[in-house]
Order: sequence, then structure tokens, then C-alpha cells
Amino acid sequence: MNDTWSDLLMADHEQTEKVIDALETLWRDKAPEPATVKKAVQYFSEFADACHNQKEEQHLFPRLSAAGIPSHGGPLGMMLMEHERSKQLLDAFSSLGQRVVAGDAAAAGEMVTVFLEYGALLKNHYWKENDILYPMGRRALGPDDDAAIVKGILEIENGLGADTRNKYQALAQEMTRGTLEDLSAPLDKSVIAAILNSLPIELSFVDADDCVRYFSHENHAKLFPRTRGVIGLKVQNCHPPKSVHMVEQILADFKAGRRESADFWIDMGSKKIHIRYFAVRAAQGEYLGCLETVQDITAIQQLTGQKRLLD
Ligand SMILES: [Fe+2]
Repeated sequence: MNDTWSDLLMADHEQTEKVIDALETLWRDKAPEPATVKKAVQYFSEFADACHNQKEEQHLFPRLSAAGIPSHGGPLGMMLMEHERSKQLLDAFSSLGQRVVAGDAAAAGEMVTVFLEYGALLKNHYWKENDILYPMGRRALGPDDDAAIVKGILEIENGLGADTRNKYQALAQEMTRGTLEDLSAPLDKSVIAAILNSLPIELSFVDADDCVRYFSHENHAKLFPRTRGVIGLKVQNCHPPKSVHMVEQILADFKAGRRESADFWIDMGSKKIHIRYFAVRAAQGEYLGCLETVQDITAIQQLTGQKRLLD
């Protein structure tokens, strides 16, 4: 499916938010390295401002205003004001950044302070665009507007060079690689455990050597009973014999990269139970193990219409 204007703009936001997060982490307690500062000044000037903001200012905002969304006051007026403020902060960040790149370490402290304000403004601004302005735009604009905005976005990118999107994606990756952790990393283990036990799905995890390492909902009623004694056992030793050959096949397929998931559904009394297996892989694709999910989908299968109000 082709990307819509809001898919394209939100992908820009997502990429820039990762860069902001990585730089905040890097510069929190270490002096900024000139090489990274140079990349950051380039990324925010050439991409976040001259490319992304221009896509909106030249192609999205005028069409929103023509569709009746006022450009003074209201969400659109607010977004325009924030673009102005972001340009001021970016100018300050760039000139301080250029001093740091030129070897003036005394400018680094103020540069980081300005960057933190700039980053905070952008994150808040992107959230408002993603959650308020774009949904408003999707309702107000017709298919001709949608197509013209996508065309305008591509024209801005092409006007900055043939490979603009890939170029800044690569620059963003250079700045984030090795710095960005998974969002679960700062969470306390007890919080992660509570989240897993709150899922409406029972989980079991078997590691790359087929040993059972984890199951959720230990102290809750479960569809498939599991007790602590299975931890550390080979999955082949604690699976019903009649289906163990399928488990072997799934694990072999996962390890060989022939399959990423397998689904089954069975009847348990009046309940319909959905059982799924997923290959769990590290970012580089290395096989870490198999996740089994078990869910009672009886009530979900019976849903009709919509429920949009709280009971
Ligand atoms: Fe934006």
C-alpha cells in the first residue's frame, strides 16, 4: 500500500525523535564530541527544518487552511508558531554547535542547554501534529488534496537531492546506533513482570536450546496449567506426547529461518482457544527462542458493531 501524507510525515517525526533521544542520552553526562555535533547540526538544519518542516509549510498547512482550518489561533496557528520558535532555537544550536566543531569547548554547555530546549519543543510539537493536527487534516481533506500533498512531499525531497530520504535515514542511524536502548530498558523488572502478567494472553518462552525459561500468570488461573517445576526442562519433556512432533517441527523451522510463526485454534468446552508460536529473534536476526501465546478468544469472536463508551 502506498504511504499517505500522514504516514510519510509521521515517519519523519519518528526518526527525528530517536535522534533527539540518542543525543540527549549521549550529552547528558559526557562532553559532546565535535564529530557528533557536526552530524547533529547537519541533520536538524538540513532534514528536520529544511526538509520536514518545509513539507508541511509548503504543502500541508496551506491545504488545511484552504479546507477551513484557521491558520491563526487553533491547532494550525499553534503549529506555525512552534515552527518559528523551533527555527530560532535551531539557529542558536547551529551557531553554538559550529563553535564546538571548531574546537571551542567553552560553547558546549550552552549548546547542550539549547539543544535540550529544542528537542523538548520538537517532541511535544510532533506529538500534537500526530495526535491532533493530522487526524483533523485527514477528516478535512479530500483525495485530491491527499495526492497533491504526497506529491509535494516527494518534490521537496527530490529537490534536495536524488537520495534525500535514505541519506538522512543513514545519518540518523549513525547518531543513534549503540545509544538507543529498547524502551523497556529503564523499567524496573517488577514493572515488566506486572505488565506481562496483565496481558490477556498467557505467555511461555522456550530458549534457543529448547529449555523452558519463563511463563506468565504464575499466580493466576490459567487455560493451560503450568507450575514452576517446568522451568529449565526441555520443552520436549513437558509437552503432551501427541503434539510433541509438531513442536519439534516448529522449533526446527524457526531455527532454520523457514518460519516466523505458527497458529492453532482448539475447542476447550465452550471456549475457543487460540495458540500461537512466534520465533523470537535479536535485532540482527539471531534466534533467541520461541514464544507461545495462549488466548481465550471466545468473547472476541462474538464482538459485533462498536463500543466507544465506558460502561
Ligand atoms: Fe511535523
